[in-house]
Order: sequence, then C-alpha cells, then structure tokens
Amino acid sequence: MCGIFGYVGKRNDAGSLVIDGLKNLEYRGYDSWGIACKTDSKVSIEKDIGKISSIKSEDFSSNCSLAIGHTRWATHGGVTPQNAHPHANGTETIAVVHNGILENYQQLRRDLESKGHEFKSETDTEIIPHMIEEYMKETGDFTSAIKKSCEAFEGRFAFLALHTESNTLVAARRGSPLIIGVGEDGYFIASDIPAFMNHSRLVQYLDDGEMVVTDGESILFSSLKTDEEIQKREIEITWSVEEAQKGEYEHFMLKEIMDQKDSIARAVNQNEEQIETLADAIRNAKGTFLVGCGTAAKACMASEYFFSVISQKHVNFAPASEFKLYHHFLRPESLLIVVSQSGETADVLEAMQIAKSKGSKVLAIVNVEGSTIDREADYSLLINAGPERAVASTKALTGHMAVLMLIAYALDGKLKEGRKVLLETASEINDMLNPRYVDFVESVAERIQDQKDLFIIGKSWNYPMALESAIKIQEVSYVHAEGFAGGELKHGPIALIEEGTPCIALMGDDEVKNDIISNAIELKARGGFIIGIAPENNESFDVWIKVPEAGTAQALVNIIPVQALAYFLAVKRGKDPDMPRNLAKSVTVK
Ligand code: AGP
Ligand code: GLU
Repeated sequence: MCGIFGYVGKRNDAGSLVIDGLKNLEYRGYDSWGIACKTDSKVSIEKDIGKISSIKSEDFSSNCSLAIGHTRWATHGGVTPQNAHPHANGTETIAVVHNGILENYQQLRRDLESKGHEFKSETDTEIIPHMIEEYMKETGDFTSAIKKSCEAFEGRFAFLALHTESNTLVAARRGSPLIIGVGEDGYFIASDIPAFMNHSRLVQYLDDGEMVVTDGESILFSSLKTDEEIQKREIEITWSVEEAQKGEYEHFMLKEIMDQKDSIARAVNQNEEQIETLADAIRNAKGTFLVGCGTAAKACMASEYFFSVISQKHVNFAPASEFKLYHHFLRPESLLIVVSQSGETADVLEAMQIAKSKGSKVLAIVNVEGSTIDREADYSLLINAGPERAVASTKALTGHMAVLMLIAYALDGKLKEGRKVLLETASEINDMLNPRYVDFVESVAERIQDQKDLFIIGKSWNYPMALESAIKIQEVSYVHAEGFAGGELKHGPIALIEEGTPCIALMGDDEVKNDIISNAIELKARGGFIIGIAPENNESFDVWIKVPEAGTAQALVNIIPVQALAYFLAVKRGKDPDMPRNLAKSVTVK
C-alpha cells in the first residue's frame, strides 16, 4: 500500500529527508509520488507519476523544517500527477497525504462544493484539507477541526497533514498504520519504520481512533472522539538497518528466500508455555476458524491438513475476504486464528472485527511487531521472520506454517516432537539452499521462461502449495500460472495441456505419493513437460528438483524451490520481482 512520511523539527533539510524516507518505502508498491515543503509561510508541492527512485533528494529546498511526502497506490482517481498526493486546501495552508478510502467522499465533496470549495483532482483524499479548512471556520482550531473531519469520514484511513500557520504536523488513523519516530531534533511520522530508521530507533505507535499533533518539540496523542490525552511508551526497534536492506542480493525477494536458511528456526523457537496456551485455546474452543489473504491464506489452508493429520482436529479455513458470511457460525466460545505478514491487511482486520462483535477470541500469527493485528488480537504470536520487503511473500509463508504446525503438535501433546521435526526441516532447508542448488533452479527457469501457461499440482498440504506456487509465479513473472488439486485435473483442467506445457508436480514420500505420480503421468501422456519437486526422482519427470523428505513438514520444503523458480522467471522476463505491477506489499484497503 502507499507510503506516508513527514517530519517537523529543528532540521532545515526536511524536504530531502522526506524524499529519502519515501525511497525506503518503495517496496510497498506505488504508482506516483509527491512532497509538500513549508518554506517561510508558504507550502510548495511537487508531485508526479512514476518512481521516486530517480528523484534527487538534494534538489529539494533546504530552509524547510516541516514537510510531508507520499507514494500513492491509486484507488479513487487515475494515475495522474493531479491525483498524486499531497493535496491542499484552496489557500494552501493545509496539505495532506492519505492511505485508505473515504467511502462517503462523493457526498462530502458535493457539500463542500456547495460551500464554494474547488477541487483539482478526482481523488477521495482531496476532500480532507477542504473539510479541515471548513471546520476551522467553526472551531477556530486546527486540531479540533481534524477531529470533526474524522467524525464525518466513513471508511478506513490514515492521514498526515501539515498546517503552515501553526507550523504543526498532525496525523490521524482509523484502520491503516502510522508510526511516530522520536528524533533528537524533531519527530517523524510514517506508515512504516524504514522511512526514518536511519534517524531514529525509538518509536511510538498510533492506534486506531487516535491522533497526534507535534510542532517538533512537544507531541500530544489524543483520542479522535474525546479530548482525552493518551500516554504512549517509546519502543526501541532492534532491527539492524542491514536486515532491512538487501545485503549482497540484487533483489529483496531473493534475499528473503535465502533468509529461510534461518527464519524457519527462528519461527520455531517460541516460548513453549505460550504455544501450550494457544493449543489450549484451540482445544477449548467451540469451532476454530483460520483466515488470511493471498499467501497467508495458503498457510491457513495447509494448516487445515496439519491439524487434521497431526492432531485430528477439525478447523475451518476461509479467505478473510469471504469471512463475512461465516459470522453466523461464530459464538463467544469460537476462536478465530488470523494469519498475516504485515498485520495491516484490511480484509483480515475486518474479519477480526466480525469475530470480536460476536464475542469470539482472536489469535494472531504475524510478522510485524506492533502492527494493528498484533496489537488488537487477544493472543498474538510473532513469527520472527525479520523485515519482509519484497511484495511477494516468501519467508513469512514458511514462518506462518512452522508456527501453525507447532501448535498442531502441541494440540496433540507432542510439542517437543513438533519442534524436533521442524528444526530438522529447518536444518535440511539450510543445507538445500546452497549456490549449486539455486543455480540449478535458475537453469530450470531458463528452460521454461518463454512459456505462457504453467500448471502446478499437489495433494494434501501440497495442494495449498500448488495454489501458492501459482500466486508466486503470477505476481512476479506475470506468467499465467494455475494451481490444482492433483485429483481435479481429469475433471476439466487437463483439457488445457498441450505439447510442452510446463507442469510442476509437488509431492512427498507419503500416503498420496502414488496418486500424484499418476496425475503427473496423465499430464505427461498429453504432452506436459513435467517438473517434479520430490524427495525421489520418477520416470514421469522431465526435470527433477530434489527436496529433502520432510514428512509432515513437506509443504515448507517444497514451496522454496518454487519461490526461487518464480524469482528467476521474473528476472529472466525482465520484470522487477520486488515491486510487481498493480500489487502492494500490504493491502490496507478492502
Ligand atoms: C503474496 O505474495 C502477496 N503479496 C499477497 O497475496 C499477500 O500474501 C496478501 O496480501 C496478505 O498479506 P499479509 O500477509 O500482509 O496479510
Ligand atoms: N484513496 C486514495 C487515492 O486513491 C489513497 C490511495 C493510497 O492509499 O495510496 O489517492
């Protein structure tokens, strides 16, 4: 989703500071950028479509101590310079950058136009500075005008506003993240920590329904609904800057795939008492639901098999965006397990609100500490994968599956056995991810890089991995990839197979191995080019990508070569695997 960043304080290079900070948010995915700098009593706004990486931060005026910037992911209004943020009121005393959707903006815009306000863009965002200006006529005060404006807005938002007359920075949030960086000579406000990480490691989190006002010296947190002042503790960020950077890799995606040499073991090293508590919560619940979106949803689907096979427990999966119609099942004794990397996905947050409205408990399994989902759940477990910056989620998937599998073992009273299986698998993956192996996967990508269709089949926990394989390949290489349950092929999709169509078969050495091999043979008989990802070779394979035999953890192992295959397909097809078109790292709008 978009990137928001602002600074106010004693420094007078706020313009270049904000541009550099926005560059650290590029990984979130965007289509245009902009910045507003207050110099003297005026605000100057510069914005355009395209990437901010080519903009020289030193070109931005010095003598600026108050600035806000934005990288936009368009929802309302096309990708044009006029629709890029910041947006200002008529007199340009207020400038605003925004993440989210103001669902009632058309009515509000009509009301404001009837009062003489003129608009320059098609966006919902532009109504914010005009609403604040209108309410200031009533309240005479910037902060209370913000509160009244937020009362009028419907939908999820996070916005940052600068006010030239009071020389203040104000932020308000309802649904999308905002974090405050405490600097030695001022305050930073951003949608994510990397924006100001080079300047401050002390953060304060703005929660939903709150706002913050700062002039760079003092800072005041308050509720949007009342004038109640809120105290916020300062949290020190332990990530190193290097962790958040690419290191020796060309792209974040490959770095994060290789991070799985260590990240799975980190996910497994949980507080055992906490895992047992969560297993108890599932054991005692009357109905357990697993929800997530995209790749996180595939971790949930795989976990249905983990809970079935390992602890004979029936849990229900639903894509978070589909959960709305499930609330009829929910009771106070129900448990909702939400899985998310960013901890800010709008559909997941909505599912949480539905569950809470029914009195159900919510367990979150997330990667980003301090994210909204992490803070709003009744129980929360961090997968400790470290920053995941590429839009394509890789190490978070295996981290989520590792934690969920651990809980499934604990549910069966076998937590120690689960840790052993997973730590052995982590060690096998560490050995597997060696340069020779990665080069071999790259050579396979080379063989199929010009194909326009690609199919993936799997059974049991490898079926969700077949679906996840399709997401990975689609989202970074733009190849049409589809995942199927192996047994479903002959019920339709096999009609799509032509001579040379690449088909990936995911398998383990388990009770469904012979079934999936039969499926692979059916594909081969119709001309399919079979890429077997399996512990053992098979005569039906045209190419064999060997993976360790990992028993119940086979899904964690099998998906890793596919992640690498998707990465190399993207690079060989000239795509940017870190920032694929149309996609955002965290989908904070419904
Ligand atoms: C996965 O590669 C995609 N980036 C996307 O499907 C993602 O998994 C989904 O948007 C959920 O994000 P979350 O894990 O941050 O909630
Ligand atoms: N809805 C706003 C727009 O389309 C904000 C989009 C964003 O979150 O970047 O401009």
